[in-house]
Amino acid sequence: MSLKLPAVGNSQILSVGSYRPKRLVPNSEIVDRIDSSDEWIQQRTGIQSRRFAGPDETIITMAQAACESALKRANLTIAEIDTLILATITYPFQAPSAATDLINVLGNPKAAAFDISAACAGFCYGVAMASDLVRTGSAKNVLVVGVEKISDFTDPDDRATAFIFGDGAGAVIIGRSDEARIGPVVWGSDADSRDAILLNPAYTEFRNSPDKGVSEIGWPNISQQGQAVYRWAVFTVSKVGIKALEAAGVRPDELGAFIPHQANMRIIESMAKEIKIPANVVIADDIRVNGNTSAASIPLAMDVLLEKHPHLHGTLALLIGYGAGLVFAAQVVQLPPKP
Ligand SMILES: CC(C)(COP(=O)(O)OP(=O)(O)OC[C@H]1O[C@@H](n2cnc3c(N)ncnc32)[C@H](O)[C@@H]1OP(=O)(O)O)[C@@H](O)C(=O)NCCC(=O)NCCS
Repeated sequence: MSLKLPAVGNSQILSVGSYRPKRLVPNSEIVDRIDSSDEWIQQRTGIQSRRFAGPDETIITMAQAACESALKRANLTIAEIDTLILATITYPFQAPSAATDLINVLGNPKAAAFDISAACAGFCYGVAMASDLVRTGSAKNVLVVGVEKISDFTDPDDRATAFIFGDGAGAVIIGRSDEARIGPVVWGSDADSRDAILLNPAYTEFRNSPDKGVSEIGWPNISQQGQAVYRWAVFTVSKVGIKALEAAGVRPDELGAFIPHQANMRIIESMAKEIKIPANVVIADDIRVNGNTSAASIPLAMDVLLEKHPHLHGTLALLIGYGAGLVFAAQVVQLPPKP
């Protein structure tokens, strides 16, 4: 005896929305404490500035603003959303989830809601899950939001990280479609490199000294092995992008845009070269003004790109997320229609 299920359908991104904190922080505000310079940061990463959230700009308020913008553009109400997936690594509470707080604030406390922790790949993981929930009929309209307040977890005196990260939120709504508009995800881990990026450098100490109290270990801040992550992103993660194109049956010259995780402009340019992205494809470079916003970076970059280049609405884009874990995920999507 088997189940009587509807045929698997298709999914699409209906809209995108984002929120950027009000305070723009130029490199000049960061450099003194880490003995660096605007020139060094721009040359190594492309970053000119980032945004830091103020006390009134929380994970929930930033995500709420991004979701409300996406809802408006999709012409949907929150009552029509049946599932909320929230990707973050900087919500400072283990439970209840940020997603349940957010869905309550948005006004539909009965919808399914949960957090995922896949660092800078979190948004692409969320899109993959939302797409398959919609395709199989488990959900009708899914809000996927990536949101980070990394400034709360960054040591301003750490030369290896203080200049990289920023705060913000980006959201998409994924719903049904008559045609395939979200490709299969190509995802996975390199979990033997767990120590390459840590949001808790005291993790090893904690693991090795279970008798030490949490208060002795202190507040977690992000740390990373910059060069190892750089090489992994360019040489391993680029191949994931190539596989995602193949899985979707799309050639690089059929893309309108390339929207990889905004970690470093040099990584983005090297990835584009490895994947053989042609010169006419628009490459997201939001990193320059908004830094690395982890799970929020791809939807934030998508929103800015569509604002700057309205002709990209409805064209195909390759998304690639990667980060702490190490984890990665990539898919080809059709960018949402013009609202
Ligand atoms: C972080 C990153 C920009 C550092 O650049 P790098 O070229 O690897 O830098 P290194 O640590 O090898 O240091 C090179 C030199 O710059 C100096 N340096 C390091 N950090 C510096 C800083 N913040 N400002 C100025 N100089 C710095 C070092 O002292 C070293 O000097 P030396 O050559 O005289 O010894 C780069 O490794 C990177 O972007 N990695 C990927 C990180 C990433 O994307 N993480 C997020 C993934 S989700």
